[in-house]
Order: sequence, then C-alpha cells, then structure tokens
Amino acid sequence: MEADQAARQDDLRALRARAVEILRTNDRGGYTVPTDGLYPFQWNWDSAFCAMGIATFDVDRAWTELESLYAGQWDNGLLPHIVFHHVVDSYYPGPDVWGAQHEPRTSGISQPPLTATAARFILARAGDDPTSEARAAALYPKILALHDWWARERDPGGTGLVGVLHPWESGADNSPMWDEPLRATPATSTKFARRDVAMVDAAMRPHQWEYERYIHLVELYRGLKWDGARIWAETPFKVADVGLNAILMRDEQDLLALAQRFGSPGDRGRLRARAERRQEGLETLWDGQAGSYFSRDLVSGRALKIASHAGFLPLWGGLENTDRADRLAAELGRWVAQCRYGAPTMSPDDPLFDQKRYWRGPVWGIVNWMLGDGLARHGHDDLARRLRADFRALVMRSGFREYFDPLTGDGLGGEVFSWAAATALAWAFD
Ligand code: DGY
Repeated sequence: MEADQAARQDDLRALRARAVEILRTNDRGGYTVPTDGLYPFQWNWDSAFCAMGIATFDVDRAWTELESLYAGQWDNGLLPHIVFHHVVDSYYPGPDVWGAQHEPRTSGISQPPLTATAARFILARAGDDPTSEARAAALYPKILALHDWWARERDPGGTGLVGVLHPWESGADNSPMWDEPLRATPATSTKFARRDVAMVDAAMRPHQWEYERYIHLVELYRGLKWDGARIWAETPFKVADVGLNAILMRDEQDLLALAQRFGSPGDRGRLRARAERRQEGLETLWDGQAGSYFSRDLVSGRALKIASHAGFLPLWGGLENTDRADRLAAELGRWVAQCRYGAPTMSPDDPLFDQKRYWRGPVWGIVNWMLGDGLARHGHDDLARRLRADFRALVMRSGFREYFDPLTGDGLGGEVFSWAAATALAWAFD
C-alpha cells in the first residue's frame, strides 16, 4: 500500500516536472504559444490559464505573460484573441486576413476574459512581494478597460448579457450551440487553404462548412474597418453565449477584488452595479423545464437548446441560487457517469455528441478546471474530485494533449499543449 502510494507520488512529481518543461518549451520569449505549429502566436484565454500555471513555479514570468498579452490591447479596450508577436507562416487566418491596425499585429475579436482571475491568482502566489503589487497595479486599469469594452461594445442595450460576434470569440469554436446561427451566416467566396488539418486529423477539427463561415465573418468585419457599432448592427452572428457570460461574471468579481486594492470608489461602484446586472442577465438564460442555462441567438431571439458544457459554467461564474446549482451538479454528474473520463463538452446521450471532434464532445482540461472549481464553490466536492482525478488519469495515460476522448481516454488535437500543463500545475496536481 505504502509502496503504491510512493510510486503514485513519484509519477505525479515526474508529471509536474514535465508540465513545467512544456511551459518553458512553449515560451517564445515573454509569451507562451498554446503549442508549436498549430497555434504559433499568443492566444488570449490560453495565456490567462498559462499565467496561472506558470505562477506555481515562476511568479515573475507569470506577470510577463499577462503583460505581453496586454501589449495587444486596442485603444478602445478590446483585448484581441490573438497577438501575432512574430511572423510565422503555419497558421491561417494570419494578420493580413484580419487587417487590424495595431502594432503588434492582432486579430479583431476577443475571447473569454480570465485576466483578472489570473492576476488575482498570481497575487495570491506572490505573497507580500512589492514587485508583484506594482505589476498588478499597472495591469489593473487595462483589465478595467477590457471590462468596460465588453459592457459598452458587446452589450450596448445594457441587458447584463454580452454578445459574441464570432464562434472563435466564445472559445468553444465548433460547439453545436453555434450550428443554428452559423447556418444563417453566409459562406466566404474566398478560396483558402486551412493549415490546421495539415497538422491534426480532420476528424478532430471543425468541418469545412464552418470554416467558410468563420472566414466570412472575419472578412465582413475587416470590411467594416473593425467599427464596433457597425459590426454590432450588421453581423448575422450575434449570440449571448452562456459560457462566456459566466466567465465574464467571474472575471468581474475578481476585478472587483483587485479594485479594492488598486481602484477608486467610482470603479468599485460601477463594478458592483454591473455584477448585479450580470446575475439578472444570466437568469434570463435559465430554462426551468430543462433545468439548464442555454445561450441565446440575439439575431433570431431564440434560445439555443443544446446540451453543452457551457450550460454548467455558471457554477464557475458563481450562482446565488443554490437550488439551480444543485440541479446543474446533478445533471453534470449524470453525464460524467456515462463516460470513462469526464467531463465531456456535450451530453453523451445526445445525437450530436462526437467523442473526437473538438468542442462537440471531448474532455478539455480547462473546462474541467472551471467546472471542478465551480462545483467545489457550491459544495459539490465529490464530483469536483472526480473531475480532477479524471484529468490526472488522462494526462498519465495520454500526455498533455489539447483535448481527450471521454470514452477511450485517447489524446486528441495538439500535443505538448500549454494549457494542459497549466491545468495540471494550477489545479489538477496542486
Ligand atoms: C483556431 O484557429 O482553431 C482557433 O481556435 C481560433 O482562434
């Protein structure tokens, strides 16, 4: 028994060392690429997760991760989903397709915001370090500007819910949640060569019909010169994503905590008022009959009744209604019970479940992290423990992969993946 436990500890020590090595290998000099080749630049939410992983062994470098991401911030507060620090040819669509006027070059949409959460996480690891205090203070107004951008540009009606204008902005690119609004989006007429399917099995990536619409949206917004008001008015793809809204809600709570140290009374008042509106906005996505939160298409006005992982992310965002939290935990437990490794990104008994295709079924480490944390926050420790144990088992079996098959445990997508390493260090092996 003792020998077994010692062997397990040795395994975990070796995996921790491997995770640190991955984050160092994927360091391109002040920023971390998600993985070599497939994603050769700095991605917004990847970097926030990486910063938390890096903070477990190098607080100084963790701050640099966030600072280099904010080098891409636009004057209006938008934090782009990609910062193209250096020219690399292995990715499509590159900076010229986006056509955004910024130096360093960037994309023109954002991604789920986690930088206040990350800054707070790093601060907690830093103890009483005055340099960390100063770096957090310098980041604070930039993170506030990002949140003001979300409120101003992506919720012009002040509903408390923000809209995403591209499936990539949700982070869950090809989730079945986007099938209906994407079908109402025209395809591009541009001929383009995808690079992703040259590096990863096409069966694990979005379909071509989806890519044709992803590129149409980029071209449309580029044609509108990235003018936020015109894009909001003219886009065919505008969705209140429950996942992104829940993540935004959590980031704003962490921002309010930062504002207690670094902000003004005016900032705190604004953030408190916004937090109330966010809770109210989120509750308008609740479907009592289904016992779930669903995203809403802001163009058609219809609820997108898809059983995806995003419906559980309000647990991470923080729910005041404990009855709803209990219902979510029970349903998630039912999904996990049908898998060898949870949590999947689609209900396994849904006809749309696809165990290998990106956001249509596979297990993602960062999703387990957010759900596990959210479950623990609402007192569902057993299920939270199961998600941590499943992620550890997946990494031991298949390595630090981008995502995993929930039925077999096979590793999928990119290899040597930064946020899998960060998830291990900051959450699953912590
Ligand atoms: C990709 O290229 O697959 C990314 O998810 C888009 O940001």
